[in-house]
Amino acid sequence: MGASDLSGMVVVVTGGGSGLGAQFSRRLAADGAHVVVGDRDEASAGRVASEVGGEVAVFDVTDSGAFDAAVDRVAAHHGRLDVLINNAGVAPPRHPERDQKAFANAMARAEGRIDDLEPLDVTLGMTDSEWDVMIRIHLHGTFFGTRAALRHMMPRRSGSIINVSSIMGLRPAAGAPHYCAAKAGIVALTKSTAQEVAPFGIRVNAVAPGWVDTPLLAPMDPISIAGITAQIPIGRMGRPEELAEVVRFLAGPESSYCIGDVFAASGGWV
Ligand SMILES: NC(=O)c1ccc[n+]([C@@H]2O[C@H](COP(=O)([O-])OP(=O)(O)OC[C@H]3O[C@@H](n4cnc5c(N)ncnc54)[C@H](O)[C@@H]3O)[C@@H](O)[C@H]2O)c1
Repeated sequence: MGASDLSGMVVVVTGGGSGLGAQFSRRLAADGAHVVVGDRDEASAGRVASEVGGEVAVFDVTDSGAFDAAVDRVAAHHGRLDVLINNAGVAPPRHPERDQKAFANAMARAEGRIDDLEPLDVTLGMTDSEWDVMIRIHLHGTFFGTRAALRHMMPRRSGSIINVSSIMGLRPAAGAPHYCAAKAGIVALTKSTAQEVAPFGIRVNAVAPGWVDTPLLAPMDPISIAGITAQIPIGRMGRPEELAEVVRFLAGPESSYCIGDVFAASGGWV
């Protein structure tokens, strides 16, 4: 069976101006979908939208009123919303000093010098606003988008919502408790809403990418990248194109039996 034609379908992608979201936009447009590239960065969203023959929606996913308005505009203009991809996200800010300590700790641990480990104080040092930003963008944003989309999908008894979690939501690691908690929350949100709306023809699923080579990782130093890559069984980071195939599957009727399911693509980082 070949891939279905997505012609006539209207898709909104948040964080569509860069990295994974840009590639999701390209992939779905390649199969005929009309893509609305949502982002808080107008310039990057504009570049992707013109590349894929779509349109731009500039809004911040943490602003529920702006999210509602953007989705309402799309639905009013096109008469439908078929797919929402809740993808917008940010990485925790880097702390070079902490990275150096973590590296020294890893060496000490490998040599069995447990008494030499130094506390990283990630949790102790986290401010309220650092915690808040991460939860707001990822978890609140995904909820706001889900609610906005369901207002239009429920009456039509049709639609697919794809939430972007992370392997860190499935297998949390030390160093980013706020990011891990937000991404794990997205998994629970996905499963709960999926069960609620499945009888009404709407599918809600999540993807949980492993490490993917996108601008999100640009602030990381080469030693950290090398250390991470060494732990990925396939020996390299993922490419946005590889995640876009999973999203393409979830967007179309090929995934008709997927309800509240979480699709990791991790290179073996499980
Ligand atoms: N790259 C990875 O290794 C990786 C792994 C697992 C999960 N993810 C998740 O994938 C998603 C996309 O990440 P990426 O790697 O493509 O990052 P990216 O930095 O390349 O792109 C993120 C986009 O989201 C936009 N954005 C950020 N905050 C926003 C907000 N509040 N409102 C609207 N737009 C906002 C940015 O402007 C940017 O265009 C994120 O949710 C991220 O957590 C990434």
